[in-house]
Amino acid sequence: MSKEQWAAVDQYIANLFTPPDPILEAALDDSLEAGLPQIAVSPIQGQLLMLLARSHSAKRILEVGTLGGYSTIWLGRALPADGSLLTLEASPKHAAVARANIERAGLADRVEVRVGPAQDTFPQLISEAGQPFDLIFLDADKQSYPAYLEWSLQLSRPGTLIIADNVIRKGQIVDPESEDVNVQGARQFNERLAVDPRIDAIVLQTVGSKGYDGFALALVNGERA
Ligand code: SAH
Ligand code: DHB
Ligand code: MG
Repeated sequence: MSKEQWAAVDQYIANLFTPPDPILEAALDDSLEAGLPQIAVSPIQGQLLMLLARSHSAKRILEVGTLGGYSTIWLGRALPADGSLLTLEASPKHAAVARANIERAGLADRVEVRVGPAQDTFPQLISEAGQPFDLIFLDADKQSYPAYLEWSLQLSRPGTLIIADNVIRKGQIVDPESEDVNVQGARQFNERLAVDPRIDAIVLQTVGSKGYDGFALALVNGERA
């Protein structure tokens, strides 16, 4: 199996299930134009996120790592009219592009982009002690995934679904000696998911237009941490 084949099959699936969408395409075009890295979730992954959020009837969503707001729009579209999505982004530049994309998608009334390193904004959120989130999507720096998991649990309730992108890293995840801090972060994250009594979880490896990587799915089953 080659990367070209994975991409061709991704295209086949996308052609079947994700019809052309000018708003999502404009979000990617404007992100590219602004010089943002092209690392948004694929259309298929976006549709998966949307379906997971809808099947979970998520009304309060937290995203960590906004980039240009592409995954934000997919998740935001799963919300009912009175739902809300908060997305955390370290880069003011990325946040500005995202806000314009979210506005064009007609989601500005439901989506808030909060700027700052999640190392600051997560603890802020915890101290605000609001309602727990129904779904949390982790997609920022992988090095910090173990910390994000702990904070996410503090913002969860039994039944909260935590999803994390990029937990396989081209298969590097199996290398305990890896010197890549992102690989080490994802390894610690996966190990904690596996053993934490507050969570039932699985990791799925995926191939497609973004190469070889994977998603983690974790369901919070304990008392609020
Ligand atoms: N979820 C997006 C892609 C996110 S890419 C999508 O699929 O469309 C990762 C993003 O995380 C980048 O925009 C990067 O600036 C941001 N990021 C990296 N480190 C961060 C941190 N410590 N806190 C908050 N955001 C961070
Ligand atoms: C990178 C980050 C991502 O969130 C992703 O989906 C792919 C790549 C990266 O930082 O290289
Ligand atoms: Mg990602």
